[in-house]
Amino acid sequence: EAHLKSNLPLAGKKALVTAGPTYEPIDPVRFIGNHSSGKMGFAIAEELCKQGAEVVLVCGPSGEKTINRSIVRIDVGSSVEMNAAVQQHFKESDITIMGAAVADYRPKEVAREKIKKESSEFMLELVKTTDILSELGKIKRSGQVLIGFALETENEEENARKKLQKKNLDFVVLNSLQDSGAGFKTDTNKVTIIDKDAGIEKYPLKTKSEVAKDICNKIIQLYNV
Ligand code: CTP
Ligand code: CA
Repeated sequence: EAHLKSNLPLAGKKALVTAGPTYEPIDPVRFIGNHSSGKMGFAIAEELCKQGAEVVLVCGPSGEKTINRSIVRIDVGSSVEMNAAVQQHFKESDITIMGAAVADYRPKEVAREKIKKESSEFMLELVKTTDILSELGKIKRSGQVLIGFALETENEEENARKKLQKKNLDFVVLNSLQDSGAGFKTDTNKVTIIDKDAGIEKYPLKTKSEVAKDICNKIIQLYNV
């Protein structure tokens, strides 16, 4: 099979993709999560694979399944676990795409036993999670391509540009929630890609597989990896 793959644009490249939500534990039976389906990250993993890359997919809890047998899938639960898995594979990765909807906060302490209902009010103390993508941006070597997503509801492009710069990304994929049919649970997405050299491309509403193609083609076009 290797000789068939060698003609593909991303042949010989290693890719690391994250997908899905993270579940931040509160106690043995509860967590803080979000509605990310994982579909976008899974579609990216499949497309990178089709283009010839060796893909590691780190995914939070998701019902999605990988199709291509050569994708190495690592299932994680919390942001701490996702960070550990990502750190383990980043150094050897040529292309890293952080598609996961990582929780921004986690419970400061995880209760050892199931929390009982007692008083009429209950306060949960939260602390910031590690920003996995920002950490990767700090250790990125030249030649490594680092891509993040940005989910915004206001000043979309300006905020996405800030994330691009702050996290030292090569490009950021801005998810537009403006149009219906774009976002977390759907099979479609509407994105804008903003690169570090101020290039900007707006795409129409497409299926997530088509968006994944656009992202991969952008990588090949801009960075010739
Ligand atoms: N991200 C991450 N680790 C976190 C939070 C976010 O790696 N703890 C990554 C996401 O995977 C995404 C990018 O950072 O690729 C942007 O995520 P987003 O939620 O849009 O932005 P934040 O930086 O978390 O800022 P905010 O939610 O306040 O807009
Ligand atoms: Ca966030």
